[in-house]
Amino acid sequence: MEDWTEGYIADVDYSQGYYRELTPSFLSFALLSAGIRPPSLTGKLRYCELGAGHGFACNVVAATHPEAEVWTTDFNPAFAATARRIADAAGIPNIRVFDSSFEEFAALDLPPFDMIVLHGIYSWVMAEHRKSIVDFIRDRLAFGVVVYLSYNCLPGWSPIQPLRRLLSEMAQRATGSTEERIEKALDEADELAALGAAYLQANEAARAQLGKIRGMSRSYIAHEYFNRIWTPLYHLDVARQMHQAKLTFAASAELQHHVERLCLTPEQAAKIAGIDDPPFRETVRDLMLNQQFRKDIFVRGPERLLASERRELLMKTRFALVWPRNQVELGAAYTQGVYPLDSGPAAELLDALASGPKTLAEMAASNDPVEFERKVEAMVVLVGTGRVEPGLPAAADAERADRARRFNDVILERARHGDQLQSMVSPVLGGAIKVERLHRLFLLGEALGHKDFASFAYAIMREELEAEKRQGKQARPPSPLGIMMLAQRFDGDIRPILVQHGIV
Ligand SMILES: C[S@@+](CC[C@H](N)C(=O)[O-])C[C@H]1O[C@@H](n2cnc3c(N)ncnc32)[C@H](O)[C@@H]1O
Repeated sequence: MEDWTEGYIADVDYSQGYYRELTPSFLSFALLSAGIRPPSLTGKLRYCELGAGHGFACNVVAATHPEAEVWTTDFNPAFAATARRIADAAGIPNIRVFDSSFEEFAALDLPPFDMIVLHGIYSWVMAEHRKSIVDFIRDRLAFGVVVYLSYNCLPGWSPIQPLRRLLSEMAQRATGSTEERIEKALDEADELAALGAAYLQANEAARAQLGKIRGMSRSYIAHEYFNRIWTPLYHLDVARQMHQAKLTFAASAELQHHVERLCLTPEQAAKIAGIDDPPFRETVRDLMLNQQFRKDIFVRGPERLLASERRELLMKTRFALVWPRNQVELGAAYTQGVYPLDSGPAAELLDALASGPKTLAEMAASNDPVEFERKVEAMVVLVGTGRVEPGLPAAADAERADRARRFNDVILERARHGDQLQSMVSPVLGGAIKVERLHRLFLLGEALGHKDFASFAYAIMREELEAEKRQGKQARPPSPLGIMMLAQRFDGDIRPILVQHGIV
């Protein structure tokens, strides 16, 4: 008899990453960029995450949206327990965590939701579960509701699909723990390559991928390559399934693709623009871009904004740097060229943001519509590159800051024992930003009253590396001088960003 995992890998821990696409302010900006009315981000947002893993992101949303009601489920009880523990430790009252399957969750007495998000779920579950997800969404959506759905897609995965299947089958036939079976499967695939398997010879992409997989984190590849269920999908089919829940594709959360002239040749863009059927148009675009992963935003009854209204809403949107200004690269590389970040509108925006978060109105004073669109394009590129993030209105910063501080205390304390929670909560964004572990240890040392926070971090790192050495692992302890220099760099480059986000 099948157990609750239904072939889903449950004995290898899944990373506790933060995906910014789960942040309401990010989804709102993606919709605005595409000219679609976003949901209201303040007030009683009812937010639901399905298959939340360890539930870090939904806890961040609950912590930074005090009026919101957040509901989440993941059928892995260990994951749901972590989510619950984080909520309890950080004192987040407005989240409800379940370890129910999607079907069991649907049977609960739940409110209609304004936002339902699923990251890395839809192509990793059986068709019958995709159907329950669609049924769940159909029955739980308020009007104008936003659904964020990411999935592995075709045609990008097509050359690698047989390799993935091979690895998964080999692992199932091997013995030992999941991690041991993964190693055996990788060795066996290498053996097939050495024997001259024609599939691997004919498919450069598959050969290269086999090499790359070895270097990837085992928890990532366990879930990406070794789950029994793994089905890359065509957008066309996903759009048809979402149509059953009265949802229409509204925008991609992959902002890099919003600036079409940077992604497609004029001839490719003209060909795509000539396709009347929107889901087919998107599918042909995937073919042009050889898309492997899609980040779709669907809306129930999307409303196209009038130009003046879109402008007004964009002007009110606040943005913040999440990367030191002096470390932003000179340009953003696209398939059709490099967009300059060291001159023109992007550099102007970066310079303005260097002194702190600002609305577009505070940075783009001109009333000229052409000038405004240039600035919006630059902002889409900057957010696309991950150097800038859209945020929430400043009005409730203080209220959000208290809750964020409590959550960040928990994150810092966890840094003492490992590197699981890698982001810190920003009340400005209503989301989180990545902060590397050494920096979190500096902040923890400081919070504990250590004036010399570099030595505090050094002692922890050194102790860990000594323990690894005792276990026979190769480990080079950090040098005290090296850590001191990194602490100075942290003070100069990173601390100002964290201050701007209300994190320190
Ligand atoms: C690839 S992981 C993604 C986790 C998380 N969303 C993320 O992106 O980090 C898929 C998650 O879906 C959960 N899951 C799979 N099938 C499920 C089902 N039928 N009901 C509830 N959760 C499920 C798994 O336990 C796992 O945590």
